[in-house]
Amino acid sequence: MKVFLNKRIPQIGIDLLKENNLEIITPQTDNLSHEEWLENCKKADIILNVGKNKYDKDFFDNFPNVKAISLFSVGFDQVDIAEATKRKIPVGNTPDVLSRATSDVAFLLMQMVSRKVNYNIEKVKSGNWKDFDALEELGQELYGKTLGILGLGRIGFEMAEKCKGAFGMNIIYHNRSHNETAEKELDAKYVSFDELIQNSDIISIHANYTPEQANLFNQSVFEKMKPNLIFINTARGGFHNETDLYKALKSGKIWGAGLDVTNPEPMSNENPLLQLPNVCILPHIGSATIEARNGMARLAAENVIAFSKNQPMPNCVNP
Ligand code: DGY
Repeated sequence: MKVFLNKRIPQIGIDLLKENNLEIITPQTDNLSHEEWLENCKKADIILNVGKNKYDKDFFDNFPNVKAISLFSVGFDQVDIAEATKRKIPVGNTPDVLSRATSDVAFLLMQMVSRKVNYNIEKVKSGNWKDFDALEELGQELYGKTLGILGLGRIGFEMAEKCKGAFGMNIIYHNRSHNETAEKELDAKYVSFDELIQNSDIISIHANYTPEQANLFNQSVFEKMKPNLIFINTARGGFHNETDLYKALKSGKIWGAGLDVTNPEPMSNENPLLQLPNVCILPHIGSATIEARNGMARLAAENVIAFSKNQPMPNCVNP
């Protein structure tokens, strides 16, 4: 079977594919044009996808040769899962191995925003560090605050656990269903979406993104939040309306925002959000650790190998 791998991945994944006698189609460059990407898709039985290429009805209509997709990500919002399922095309993903790394970034952003670290680093770099001032650059402490999690799955749990352990936070969450482990181990409380946005001091998004959730965090939602609210998004940029977020931050309606995801990605370096002192933005590095990326390469390869042997993928989003 031919596997189209559109970008570089850690060697462990390549070795596994080779050991299992899979033919790998790898382009010479990591930056394929859309046309080159389509050309390569034509030749593949399975796609091991790195990045945000879209797999929708049109794609499946045009490439009946593609029999399975193995995503190098836990998120699968780029695939029309209903269409794939209708055509019996399994879609694999890479859960768990990146939960620690991604929640670390959410935890890091929360602290950076609470103490205005990004702004203060710029201050030092630009030579604007003046004498000690007892009333300048005050942050807010995180001890005993209420963390609101949207989507308490694996990554959300890790974030909640860290916040509870480090800062004794109260955990509230909104989810499709109850997370009994979190309720038992972290004393997490299930709340409605409205309660979540009104009662949290920090909101961190860890839900799977679907188009129905586009702009879920918009002006009317930001209006209801506490003024000390720290907004953290390490999931998908589509969850927040960027203009409304900008207005909420600029007017001081909320305290600050830490984003590892934007819409679109990459964001323009002229984006006005970057001028705000209460914002910290990272270039989608949630899973960017050696450990997590090796784990993702292994899981993505294992999904391909299982499919090539006519077995169910070990991590399949549409089993
Ligand atoms: C994921 O795994 O979904 C990360 O966001 C990388 O896309």
